Amino acid sequence: MENLDEAVLKQWIEESLATGSHVLAAGYQGQTLVYEGEHNHVVIKTPHGKGLARRFHKKMLRHEYAVYQQLGDFDGAPTCYGLIDNQYLVLEYVDGRTIRTKRPLDEDEFHRKLFSHIRTMHARNVAHMDLKRKDNLLVRGNEMPCILDFGAAVIKKKGFHPFNQYRFRLGKQFDYNAWIKHKYHNRMRDISMFDRKYYKPTWVELIAGTIKGLYAD
Ligand SMILES: Nc1ncnc2c1ncn2[C@@H]1O[C@H](COP(=O)(O)OP(=O)(O)O)[C@@H](O)[C@H]1O
Ligand SMILES: [Mg+2]
Repeated sequence: MENLDEAVLKQWIEESLATGSHVLAAGYQGQTLVYEGEHNHVVIKTPHGKGLARRFHKKMLRHEYAVYQQLGDFDGAPTCYGLIDNQYLVLEYVDGRTIRTKRPLDEDEFHRKLFSHIRTMHARNVAHMDLKRKDNLLVRGNEMPCILDFGAAVIKKKGFHPFNQYRFRLGKQFDYNAWIKHKYHNRMRDISMFDRKYYKPTWVELIAGTIKGLYAD
């Protein structure tokens, strides 16, 4: 961040939260603010709630920060500028729209690039886990994908951690399934021979899908 003092930004964040201003998005875990200064355009994810809930949301933001560090220099996600006061996650503002409201002009190129980002992420021992959600995927101004929201991501640990490594494998499969879902808009009949090997609904997703089906109107 250029010419942006942490203490000044922290004060700005706390004033914005108190007055409910500069809100880009409000989710269950917290609010996402947008700061536009002369030299900087950043997004700040903040924790929500009081007491135990707040502690949990702070922990998720610290985890998300750790994921960004694990990813290192990665052009498939916003640049992470840091974690202020151990609770405010500062990210590069990415000009774009989520795939909920915008389809990329060149879908093939978009999905090719997204696949390559997923492979890079996995090679760096990160599985996203929540890529199915359309709010977590942006189409940038240049029509390329940008992956957001690493709150639920799994970092694969080194050594003997069977449960973590099981979750990581599951997470990688979630990511591939999400990629297929976006690429084929749920028209699974059309999956190409090449892509078929990446699509394997996991038991977790099958159960979640059944529950969703039960409650769908
Ligand atoms: N770096 C960013 N640049 C632009 N928009 C962003 C950025 N990060 C988040 N957003 C917007 O804010 C929304 C919520 O962000 P997200 O990280 O998914 O938070 P949550 O954990 O609350 O789901 C996204 O759907 C997107 O519209
Ligand atoms: Mg999200």
